[in-house]
Amino acid sequence: MEHIPVLLKESIDILLAGKGVVGGEGVLVDATFGGGGHSRGLLESSAPGVSVVAVDRDPEAVLRGQALISEFAYRFRLLAGNYADLTRLLDDAGIGKIDGLLLDIGLSSYQLEEGGRGFSFQSEGPLDMRMDPTTGEPAAMIVNQADCKTLTKIFRDFGEEPYAAAIARKIVESRSQKPFLTTRSLAALIEEMVPVYKHSRRHPATRVFQALRISVNDELSALRRVLEAGLERLECGARMVVISYHSLEDRLVKQVFRQASKGCVCPPRVPVCGCGQKQRVKILTGRGVRPQDSEIALNPRSRSACLRAIELL
Ligand SMILES: C[S@@+](CC[C@H](N)C(=O)[O-])C[C@H]1O[C@@H](n2cnc3c(N)ncnc32)[C@H](O)[C@@H]1O
Repeated sequence: MEHIPVLLKESIDILLAGKGVVGGEGVLVDATFGGGGHSRGLLESSAPGVSVVAVDRDPEAVLRGQALISEFAYRFRLLAGNYADLTRLLDDAGIGKIDGLLLDIGLSSYQLEEGGRGFSFQSEGPLDMRMDPTTGEPAAMIVNQADCKTLTKIFRDFGEEPYAAAIARKIVESRSQKPFLTTRSLAALIEEMVPVYKHSRRHPATRVFQALRISVNDELSALRRVLEAGLERLECGARMVVISYHSLEDRLVKQVFRQASKGCVCPPRVPVCGCGQKQRVKILTGRGVRPQDSEIALNPRSRSACLRAIELL
């Protein structure tokens, strides 16, 4: 199945209104290439003097991008790597300041639907969940080796799972008989334990799978690092757009943007500023942009998306 880009028009409109790009030149970075929908949109909607540099840590996404490289030749480059290392990736590619940064975080439909990647609780596959299967440890390692306290913390902190402790205890008890090697074996255990609420569209294993995925790929710390790197790397007047799909990511994005949008925090009675904090960005999106009903009807996966954007001062 193809990946349908989420909030495509909204993100392109914001990025192309950034200062450098308006002049018909500039470098835009799409740090989450995926199926290339946003990269393609940016290339097609911008002047020939604008180039796009994309990044993805998934080797399959990088392979998929070869077609776009042939099509847009000198205007498009694709770098393999973790966006947490954005500064190094851009340095190594000889790229200085940038004129826009897009992060459409999470998983692509390709990753979700390919059972062999282990992201989906609905299709059978190895319990892996690594976005880059050449590095790090698969989810099975955590599920079969972490102690009960660690598992509980992962499910609670990264999945906000109300039954975190009970699920962790049950996993530890069951794995001594038979380790969890597949997605369905883990999902089946959770299905037995977690009640399904009448009107909930959420599968009972959603939170645990999300938590494992975040832990396996160290997603929140990668997100924090790329947000900081983006703030350093963007030109004045350039924009950063972040699309997130769950509250943990969105909270982090909101926090980092809010912090960067604050000026001096000294108490009003202090005559001279001692904190040295300067406002670095202007927030462009207030409470965040959500997909219209028409987009959700066309692409139900966009339902939970929230877009936040800033402009560098
Ligand atoms: C939601 S998809 C992006 C879809 C893309 N915007 C499109 O329209 O096709 C997210 C992509 O980001 C990649 N990704 C997630 N975390 C990453 C990271 N830390 N570094 C680099 N790529 C990452 C995933 O491998 C996935 O391909």
